[in-house]
Amino acid sequence: MTSTSARKLIIAIDGPAGAGKSTIASRLARKLGYVNLESGAMYRALALKAIEWDVSFDDEPALINLAHNTRIQLEPTMGGNRVLLDGRDVSQRVREPDVTEAASRVSVHPAVRQWMVARQQEMGCGGGVVMEGRDIGTKVFPAADVKVFLDADPVVREQRRLLQQNVRGAAVHAVAAELRERDRRDRTRATSPLVPASDALLLDSTTLSEDEVLQRVEELVQSKLKP
Ligand code: DC
Repeated sequence: MTSTSARKLIIAIDGPAGAGKSTIASRLARKLGYVNLESGAMYRALALKAIEWDVSFDDEPALINLAHNTRIQLEPTMGGNRVLLDGRDVSQRVREPDVTEAASRVSVHPAVRQWMVARQQEMGCGGGVVMEGRDIGTKVFPAADVKVFLDADPVVREQRRLLQQNVRGAAVHAVAAELRERDRRDRTRATSPLVPASDALLLDSTTLSEDEVLQRVEELVQSKLKP
């Protein structure tokens, strides 16, 4: 193996909820022998702590104080990241709807984002990572070796989410409305809104299968690994 091919890349995958980031990031990481880090899980963990400590999602100074007294760890596993909050496994809990909503609210605050970005940079700076999120290619690793922005038609993303969470009946409207509101908040917040990096590969998974998306990302990765 040449020293160039042994280079451990930083791969950023950004995009809205339901675009298929997690699946692509974990499949790609497995193929490359890299670790997949779900940055959203860190916002979720802090949001859970805010719920548990009864800290308002609108109180930026209290949230940043809470963050400074919090340890969040991500442990990649075959089935996504194991999330540890102050040493406690909260992997399931952070996926629940109240935490999902809270994470989106907590993540609008610049000081919270600054704290998260610093932690994420520490975690990924050695390379050999596929980090997924909303601002990885723009803020966390603006010099990432590979940047992908994965999007899909909002209706398709909604349907995928409903299927994933096995939502039926009356709850469908609430889950769909929650996704739309989260999208709106992620895209319009003043600090680091969800936008593609100018040098990201834009992929639309509405019209591409999972395998096709993976293939395009892999082609880009291989082009970066070439001497
Ligand atoms: O990817 P996710 O659905 O687990 O993310 C949860 C929330 O965290 C999402 O609504 C926005 C926020 N987030 C963010 O602001 N920046 C990131 N890099 C990742 C997630």
